[in-house]
Order: sequence, then structure tokens, then C-alpha cells
Amino acid sequence: MTPFSYGPMTESLRLVQSREDLNTNWSELRARGAIGLVPTMGALHEGHLQLVDASRRACETTVVTIFVNPTQFGPGEDLQRYPRDLDGDLAKLRARGVDMVFAPSLVDVYRPGHETFVEVGPVAAPMEGACRPGHFRGVATIVLKLFQLAPADKAFFGRKDYQQTLVIKQMVHDFDLRIGIEVCPIVREDDGLAMSSRNAYLDRDERQRALSLWRGLQLAEQMCAAGHRDAAELKAAVRRELEESGRAEVEYVEIVRDGTVSPVTLVDEPAVVCIAVRIGATRLIDNHKIGS
Ligand code: PAF
Repeated sequence: MTPFSYGPMTESLRLVQSREDLNTNWSELRARGAIGLVPTMGALHEGHLQLVDASRRACETTVVTIFVNPTQFGPGEDLQRYPRDLDGDLAKLRARGVDMVFAPSLVDVYRPGHETFVEVGPVAAPMEGACRPGHFRGVATIVLKLFQLAPADKAFFGRKDYQQTLVIKQMVHDFDLRIGIEVCPIVREDDGLAMSSRNAYLDRDERQRALSLWRGLQLAEQMCAAGHRDAAELKAAVRRELEESGRAEVEYVEIVRDGTVSPVTLVDEPAVVCIAVRIGATRLIDNHKIGS
């Protein structure tokens, strides 16, 4: 515990639900030292909680935001059924020593008359950007707004949303934002399934089939290590694993140079295999670095 913390860890969580309350509390947090921000849409799992841990290691104070951002969901996507569990989330965050949760209402974030959005560039175009038009415009807009409302020193994101981390870094660079972006490793279940709030949608059979994502990614790693460096061959093998053993509907399998969204034809430097599939009605993404 830092010298600035007050009360036992389990009792010190503050829930703030309006921008006015956030402003009132912010100068006190600021006086304690560096502030770490963990933006989330709630339905928290161990992946989110490890972002909290990273923030607590790096900063005196950790603030988690919980806001299901409608502008990053396309028509027909899962905005309405996205899992919401504020009480459960607060219990998990309290146990993990978070100082403050900012869980604003929709109208407090997007006030009546809101009409400005962040126009994202080529980094947002392929993969998720192509499959979910407008998604990254919504992500960049809400992340910029959260950085303005809760001006922290560092913000923590998970590498599972690989392309999202690149979009956010690009925005921070282009808009000269004074915040450090920390990207934390993917957290997996024991059987390899990447943790995601959307895993809650999977029934038993789909949960089994979803293991094909990790199997496909591991297959790419093994083939690459065995000398198969041709990206088309690797992508075809991953796709086969997803379609045959996972009975998944593949949206994309792409191999990009690590730290970019540029596709490679040959894996002769560190690269990232990125995949998006539908298992039943559930859309899942995952990625894995190979060739390093
Ligand atoms: O990764 C997420 O949960 C969301 O895209 C984020 C960054 C919280 C913005 O709504």
C-alpha cells in the first residue's frame, strides 16, 4: 500500500458516476502521485484484473472506467446483450485494490448535441476495421474522451485487442496526448482460450470449438519454428484448423509485421497472426506473435 492510501484496501474503492463527481475527486487523486487508468466496458475477467495489477505496480493510484460505449458497436452487433454486472465488477475491483471506478451514464459521456468523432487513419482500416466499419472511430472517440475526463499518466490495454492498441497509440501520437500507453500480455484460460467478456455467450459445445483459435495460433507458431515461413501456407493451415476442428466461420486470418497492421508474405521477422471468427453467434478475436 502506498503512504497515500487510506483505510484497508478492501474498503477504499470509490464509485463515481458523473463527470462532476470525477472532477471533484480528481485533485485529491492527483496529489497522491501518478494515476493509472484502465478503460473497460465492464463484465470484468482476469485479463482486466491483470491490467489493474500492472497499473498498481506502476502508479500510486488506479482508476478503472466502466462504460459500454455504443459508438463502437455497429448495427446488428451485440450492444444490447453485452454483459453488464456493475456490482460483480465492483467486488472484483475492490478485492484487487482499485482506488476509484468511474462508471458514467450514457448522457454524461455523450451529452445531447454531441457531434464530433475521431477520424482514424490507415491503421484502423484492415482486419477489425474492415469487418466492423466505424468500430475504431467509436473506440478512438471514447478513449480520447476518457483521457480528457480522467487525465491520467498511463493507460493500460490488453494485447488481445492488438489492432486497438495500435489505433490508440497512433491517436496519442497524432494528437500529442500526454499519456503513456502500456500494453499488457493476453491472459488465457488454462486450456488456452483468450479471456474475453464475450466468452460468456458460448454454450458448452461452442466453448469446446472455441479452443480451435488457440490451436490454430499454436500451429502457426510450430510450423514457423519448423521452417515454414510462407505466410500463405501458414494462414491456410490456421484457417483449416478453425474451420475443420472448430467449425468456425472465419472472418479473417492475417499475418502482420509485429507492431503494425502490414501483412507479410514471408515471416522473416517477428510477426503477429491475427484471427477473427464466429463460433455460432459469437464473434471472437485472438492473436499470437510468431517468428521471434
Ligand atoms: O477494449 C475495450 O474494452 C474497449 O474497446 C475500450 C477500450 C474500453 C473502449 O470502449
